[in-house]
Amino acid sequence: MNILITGANGQLGNEIHNLEKDSKNNYFFTSRENLDITDKGRIQKYISDNRIEIIINCAAYTAVEKAEEEFKRADLVNHIAVKNLAEVSKENSVFLIHISTDYVFGGVGNLPYKEDDIANPLGIYGKTKFAGEQAIKDIGCKALIIRTAWLYSSFGNNFVKTMIRLISEKESIKVVYDQIGSPTYAGDLAKIIIDIVETRKYIDNEGIYHFTNEGVISWYDFAVEIANQVNNIKCRILPCRSDEFPTKVKRPAYSVLDKAKIKETFNIDIPYWKESLTKCIKKIGF
Ligand SMILES: NC(=O)c1ccc[n+]([C@@H]2O[C@H](COP(=O)([O-])OP(=O)(O)OC[C@H]3O[C@@H](n4cnc5c(N)ncnc54)[C@H](OP(=O)(O)O)[C@@H]3O)[C@@H](O)[C@H]2O)c1
Repeated sequence: MNILITGANGQLGNEIHNLEKDSKNNYFFTSRENLDITDKGRIQKYISDNRIEIIINCAAYTAVEKAEEEFKRADLVNHIAVKNLAEVSKENSVFLIHISTDYVFGGVGNLPYKEDDIANPLGIYGKTKFAGEQAIKDIGCKALIIRTAWLYSSFGNNFVKTMIRLISEKESIKVVYDQIGSPTYAGDLAKIIIDIVETRKYIDNEGIYHFTNEGVISWYDFAVEIANQVNNIKCRILPCRSDEFPTKVKRPAYSVLDKAKIKETFNIDIPYWKESLTKCIKKIGF
């Protein structure tokens, strides 16, 4: 089976690359430089030339703040290009695995979001990601959409790496305690995606799924645990409210995703966030 990974230089793409090595299937890793997903003609040609049967779309415009000033770029990658991928998938009988986000929800509730709860994205990033999901649904290609949240990895830039740097440089830092969610180690998400692909469990299981690590915390809790795990006792981590850090985009206060559907459908156990953080921090080199 030939499998195309788009956006392979990102966190998730790199984690999939790391894990697929023992597979008998052929994984084709592409980046923006050699396969820009906004170019529908090139996607079509790549799929035909390489007889692709599955696309795993890891490409996205992920700069949440910048998206507020770059609607066109964010929409092109997160919506229009996803529509292209869905159209090409439908026309060529390719199965599409697409990644989306907890930011499709408004975050005003206090119960974990289920897959069919009403979306209400607060900013451009969430709106364009939701438009991408809708395009897949409207076109009706065979697809899995996996929504995830608070993604981090030893690859790329993310909250874990930023915290490790800040706590080594500063005497104290403030981190928000009023945004609640679940972190996701991209290595764990990659493992689930590869398992679903390799075992062909995606067949007859199309639809939307939620995946994060187990556990529910604030960004403050996350920062404290990162400091514990890298044995940094010098930097004081102080809890603060989101309104102490004015930003261009409002973020969901509560964006916990309900994972029952993915666990039951694919018969998987999901690691607890602290254990996964330990795996990642070891990989980073602590
Ligand atoms: N990061 C999070 O906290 C988070 C949370 C929830 C959901 N997600 C979703 O999870 C998925 C994976 O996220 P991630 O953190 O791995 O993202 P990432 O590290 O930002 O990687 C995204 C990759 O997409 C590439 N890309 C951008 N435009 C492209 C284009 N036109 N054609 C081909 N590639 C393009 C980027 O390349 P350049 O660097 O060259 O632009 C980058 O390598 C995304 O769908 C994201 O929306 C992420």
